[in-house]
Amino acid sequence: MALKKGVDVKPASGKLGILLPGMGAVATTFIAGVQAVRKGIGKPIGSLTQLGHIRIGKRTDNKNLKISEYVSLAKLDEIVFGGWDIFPENAYQAAVKAGVLDAKHLDALKEDLEAIKPMPAVFEQAYVKKLNGPNVKKGTSKMHLAEQLMEDIKSFKEKNGCDRLVAVWCGSTEVYRTPGEVHSSLAKFEQALKDSHDDIAPSQIYAYACLKMGVPYANGAPNLSVDTPALLELARKQGLPITGKDFKTGQTLMKTILAPGFKARMLGLEGWYSTNILGNRDGEVLDDPESFKSKEVSKLGVIDHILQPELYPDLYGNISHVVRINYYPPRGDNKEGWDNIDIVGWLGYPMQIKVNFLCRDSILAAPIVLDLALFMDFAQRAGMSGIQEWLSFYWKSPMTPEGLYPEHDLFIQLMKLKNTLRYTKGDELITHLGAEYYD
Ligand SMILES: NC(=O)c1ccc[n+]([C@@H]2O[C@H](COP(=O)([O-])OP(=O)(O)OC[C@H]3O[C@@H](n4cnc5c(N)ncnc54)[C@H](O)[C@@H]3O)[C@@H](O)[C@H]2O)c1
Repeated sequence: MALKKGVDVKPASGKLGILLPGMGAVATTFIAGVQAVRKGIGKPIGSLTQLGHIRIGKRTDNKNLKISEYVSLAKLDEIVFGGWDIFPENAYQAAVKAGVLDAKHLDALKEDLEAIKPMPAVFEQAYVKKLNGPNVKKGTSKMHLAEQLMEDIKSFKEKNGCDRLVAVWCGSTEVYRTPGEVHSSLAKFEQALKDSHDDIAPSQIYAYACLKMGVPYANGAPNLSVDTPALLELARKQGLPITGKDFKTGQTLMKTILAPGFKARMLGLEGWYSTNILGNRDGEVLDDPESFKSKEVSKLGVIDHILQPELYPDLYGNISHVVRINYYPPRGDNKEGWDNIDIVGWLGYPMQIKVNFLCRDSILAAPIVLDLALFMDFAQRAGMSGIQEWLSFYWKSPMTPEGLYPEHDLFIQLMKLKNTLRYTKGDELITHLGAEYYD
């Protein structure tokens, strides 16, 4: 749906419920982080909605507002958390197991985290081969499972007195699939739910249930989930925003920072070799080749779209791009990534760049979950439905309308995000043209 300039955004009054299918490392680090910020024992570093500013008007106007003051976003004190997982452990137990946050934080938040217990999940092991858990719903068909999720959503909303809900998939990466016949229209999808068709993944059942219940849906994993014509049709019909896929953290974040720089300077690229060691449950799931395939496709797409080899065959026409993830339990959530980048300069002379990133995956992902939840709630109140391309900033593999290629350059993505916010307020878009040409 086209966005109107200077839209009337409904106020962010009352409570916002954030529903998380999958309550593992990312989800619990996100929840605990929001609670820590509320209690004043941590800062929301990495979150644009909490720390970012936006320039309004000309540079000489000196107007640089906090994003959270410029547009109406839900306040952290007004958020309630809920979700589903195949393991019954509460958010405190799951956070301890994930091993991301220290006792310093978890002890202080224990009571709040213990109160959050995952609802029984919709799960099918064919889609996540390495996992099996007991906290799983039973149903006579996939449609029956979707109805149970809808019941969960309804009772969560009532019990917690929520005014609005949003959902962010933080569940495991499902096996690689491309959209099939059952995903080609809503009618076929609904029939396939009734028939318990094998091509319908659990993440799609959550997406369907959320959209049916009027809940915007963001997909943090690389698998299809809401990225199908059927669910896009449902989102449009319901007037709801959807967004995905695959949180942009770690190595891919670095790629989308570095690659636009090489291209801006017209430096060539011969190869980019990326490897990781990772020891959390996500790493274990990705140890299965079929789940890894979803991740690989998501990670590989980035460079081509940024570098546009069709326009610059001499510079980018023959890149060797390799991505590896190795499951290595001792590292837990503290991933280590190595990149070897072979670049080419003047007259074809080669150079190498090495990046050794000792990163913490969930520490990078948690603020993204928060921003997505708040911006998706904003989008819904602003009447924005369908694919939210302005949120590409957060994704490794941004969803785009059919026939369009995604924007991967982090800096263009940020400009798009901020200009969308300016647009909703009816302010001038900022193009960064110098004052000598413009103003
Ligand atoms: N951490 C990052 O930087 C990052 C970046 C991009 C994408 N992701 C993706 O985010 C997701 C979560 O990552 P994580 O590190 O928290 O993984 P995790 O393994 O710690 O948590 C995933 C949770 O999902 C649960 N789960 C699996 N299938 C489910 C289902 N059908 N219903 C409900 N729960 C289900 C698992 O039991 C697990 O607790 C993964 O798909 C990962 O690939 C993470």
